[in-house]
Amino acid sequence: MIVAARLNNAELIQDIVNEDKADIVAVGRGLIADPELITKIENGDLENIRYCIACNQGCIDRVLGGMHAHCLVNPVAGEEESRKLSKIDSDKTIAVIGGGPAGLQAAITAKDRGYNVNLYTNEDLGGKLKTVAVPPEKESFLIFLDYLENQVNKRNIPVIKKEVKNFEDIEGDAVIIATGSIQNVPPIPGIDNKNVVYADYTEVLTMPKLFVIVSNFLRLSKILRHSFSEKNSPFPINLRYS
Ligand SMILES: Cc1cc2nc3c(=O)[nH]c(=O)nc-3n(C[C@H](O)[C@H](O)[C@H](O)COP(=O)(O)O)c2cc1C
Ligand code: SF4
Repeated sequence: MIVAARLNNAELIQDIVNEDKADIVAVGRGLIADPELITKIENGDLENIRYCIACNQGCIDRVLGGMHAHCLVNPVAGEEESRKLSKIDSDKTIAVIGGGPAGLQAAITAKDRGYNVNLYTNEDLGGKLKTVAVPPEKESFLIFLDYLENQVNKRNIPVIKKEVKNFEDIEGDAVIIATGSIQNVPPIPGIDNKNVVYADYTEVLTMPKLFVIVSNFLRLSKILRHSFSEKNSPFPINLRYS
């Protein structure tokens, strides 16, 4: 018997193996997220596992769109040849501005390459990861935030809490600005109206009774299935496909 699907937890995998609950444990996305998953389990190195958060955004979404798989939590996945990280011998300091996922990952990567790193943030670490974790069943995004924070701490990267307004506010020879992504807004008449909000769940919850989601079908069905099922929706949902 083969057991499969969303086995993204070391204790669960160990339990199945140790208790002989299946003949084969099949792990798919867990190995895209962290190719060393099994080695880390074998070595008891559980706190350094980069778990798949079952978002499907980097892997299945892309494959369905005719592209090869990437991974939301593993920046090297699918680009192993072109993104080989060489070590450098440098006494230079990189200032990373922004404590969201991009800033945290940039700090980790720069440190691993051999730079000194200062990470600047004007708020608690996490950025948009904390927002996307709000809808029901999306808490798994916080697993990634835990991982990133843990990796930053392990490398003793200073996290400096201040609002950076100009270069005098930071210490570094080069700067990586990771202060957040910008929405891709389609040119739809009326999209600038005050009653239109973007896909920020905390904003959506404050909306009046009816709203329209503009999305590709896969993302739309995912949002509806995970967040706004008929049972728990705070408002009626009207669907129009095109
Ligand atoms: C990039 C990618 C492509 C996939 N393509 C297929 C497919 O063509 N057919 C299929 O049955 N499952 C497909 N799957 C689903 C895997 O079979 C599934 O991930 C597997 O059950 C393991 O579960 P896990 O990824 O949660 O460990 C795909 C998964 C990924 C990540
Ligand atoms: S993109 Fe998301 S679902 Fe796919 S392997 Fe990475 S973390 Fe898992």
